[in-house]
Amino acid sequence: MTAEWIRWPANVVARFGGEPVAFGGDYNPEQWDEHVWHEDVRLMREAGVNLVTVGVFSWSTLQPEPGRWNFGWLDRVLDLLHAHDIAVDLATATASPPPWLTTRFPEVLPVDRHGRTMAQGGRQAWSPSSLVYREHSLELVERMAGRYGEHPALALWHVSNELGGHNSRCYGEQSAAAFRAWLRERYHDSLDELNAAWTTAAWSQTYSAWTEIQPPRLTFTDSNPTQELDFDRFSSDRLREQLRAEIAVLRRVTPDIPITTNMVLFDAGKNMDYSSWTADLDLVASDHYLRPTPDAHVELSFSADRARGLARGGPWLLMETATGATSWRSVNPAKRPGQLRRDVFAHVARGSDGICFFQWRAARAGAERFHSAMLPHAGAGSRKFREVAALGAELASCSEVLGTRVAADCALLFSEESWWAAERASHPHNGLSYAETALGWHRTLWEAGVTVDVVPPSADLSGYRLIVVPMLYLISDRDAAAVAAAAEAGATVLVSYFSGIVDPLDRVRLGGYPGAFRDLLGVRVEEFAPLAEADSVEIDGVTGPARVSTWHEEIELTDAVAEARYLDGDFAGAPAVTRAARGAGEAWYVGVELPADARARLLDAVAKRPSAGRPADGLEVVTRRSAGHAYLFLINHGDTEVTVQGSGTDLLDGSVHEGKITVPAGGVRVVGSAR
Ligand code: GLA
Repeated sequence: MTAEWIRWPANVVARFGGEPVAFGGDYNPEQWDEHVWHEDVRLMREAGVNLVTVGVFSWSTLQPEPGRWNFGWLDRVLDLLHAHDIAVDLATATASPPPWLTTRFPEVLPVDRHGRTMAQGGRQAWSPSSLVYREHSLELVERMAGRYGEHPALALWHVSNELGGHNSRCYGEQSAAAFRAWLRERYHDSLDELNAAWTTAAWSQTYSAWTEIQPPRLTFTDSNPTQELDFDRFSSDRLREQLRAEIAVLRRVTPDIPITTNMVLFDAGKNMDYSSWTADLDLVASDHYLRPTPDAHVELSFSADRARGLARGGPWLLMETATGATSWRSVNPAKRPGQLRRDVFAHVARGSDGICFFQWRAARAGAERFHSAMLPHAGAGSRKFREVAALGAELASCSEVLGTRVAADCALLFSEESWWAAERASHPHNGLSYAETALGWHRTLWEAGVTVDVVPPSADLSGYRLIVVPMLYLISDRDAAAVAAAAEAGATVLVSYFSGIVDPLDRVRLGGYPGAFRDLLGVRVEEFAPLAEADSVEIDGVTGPARVSTWHEEIELTDAVAEARYLDGDFAGAPAVTRAARGAGEAWYVGVELPADARARLLDAVAKRPSAGRPADGLEVVTRRSAGHAYLFLINHGDTEVTVQGSGTDLLDGSVHEGKITVPAGGVRVVGSAR
């Protein structure tokens, strides 16, 4: 990644008196009559918008039929935006192919696991393995880059849109052929190697010719887990190839324009191994939509902490979020009063140097006509638009936080490959959720006021004081060794059950669980003992008294000590939580699924922090730092005013605080001070 995260046009820098916090959203002028565009830019200016994403779904408008190009409208849109000092994040427009392409070349259409071909009429109707799609999409990228590369409004390229959001897995014939080619390369053209890697001797699956191999299509039983895992890897790699192919065109034609693509870092983003994509990008961009739950801000933090982890602590951009409701859930709640502001500043607190929404103007028609926007159906004379404009002004007053780093000395290891593999069938407990487990530990840290970088296991772990490893089911020898080395060097490592169980081929590590972490943790487990729904056992120790359900196991200590023990059940008296001294650090193991309060007590013991140091309930506390300044973000998600110790000047309202800072119920403060 390069240092220049957005190539801000000179007029935007001049208007904002320096590089601004990016603020704007997806702009779809092709859905509106041209006279509306003039109102758009006027209101954008009123709202403090400085960056809009243009052209995401405009392929069929740009190329209405083969060989016919229609760029005039986009020329005018870019000129108009530029004239109003609004920079453009220009989409390559490849996200959804036009109907003429899928009609002429039906093989472009993706096929699901049931063998059903997905039709034109929605979006992303293309198979990541379609060469016809690749060829036509690259022609479009070439034209976009050639035509707009020199446009003064162009600040950033936006490759495709949420690559793989709907079409990540295609099981059709073209994908089968591409999968075989991918496997031949991976297994050095050796079927013997593939048969060994997939353990095809199980259930009579030995292959005698490459043509026999298929994607993991519908079967009566669970299919081969390594075949499934390789298909996951292949599918993510296919999307990365599309990303790289578009990037190659852009870098050749417009080498000075930074490039991003927007990623979905939770829930719907499961299918992509984003950690293998980011090296190709100049900027990590994340899309985040709130879950409709009361503590949705905690999941928001996870997504933001993951974006920062993928950006290696550097700046990242919130490319999409909603000002209010989405339109794709069964019920789409509006945001509560003040929630939009809290959400926006939570992203900024956690390292985002810009806030963009889907979308600028609420659609009048089309599938997303009921999705919230910066400019709602009600128009500019609305509470929503006033809130948006107020946010624009507040963000403009925060430009000094740009480029500062979030202070985090804790890492939570999160791996897409473990996500895929841990949630596969035929496991000891098939109700476990990798993602929810990671989120659960993140929540415990959040509530303790610990800021966490969510990073891939291959990340540089050297700067972290605490490393949390929740259910990291699959891990390579190299990554496991790096975790052990971090403990030796002084970190405290905390590993939860069902971690280190398999190698990267989903083969169980022999000699006792938790395989890859057995020596680090100084424990050995011979048998998993998941608990049926009605069962639970009591434990006590550093966790305090707690009743655990879902999972427990009999832990044998090799050189660890017990920190909590079972009080009843089959393993009464045996350890449930352990600790081993390792070099300058230590390694903790949690062999049970702990309830939240016990996990919180455990964390205080593990991190050696007094529980009195916890922030008030619902108070989010994050610090961003530069060499000379610290910015304390205080976001009060609770219903009562909170006071904390601290001094400095609030960037948002200019108030000066000496010794104590009061945050109103539901309020936000960004307090800057010299360090
Ligand atoms: C995704 C897409 C956008 C839009 C939003 C709606 O994030 O990238 O085009 O559909 O969802 O929430």
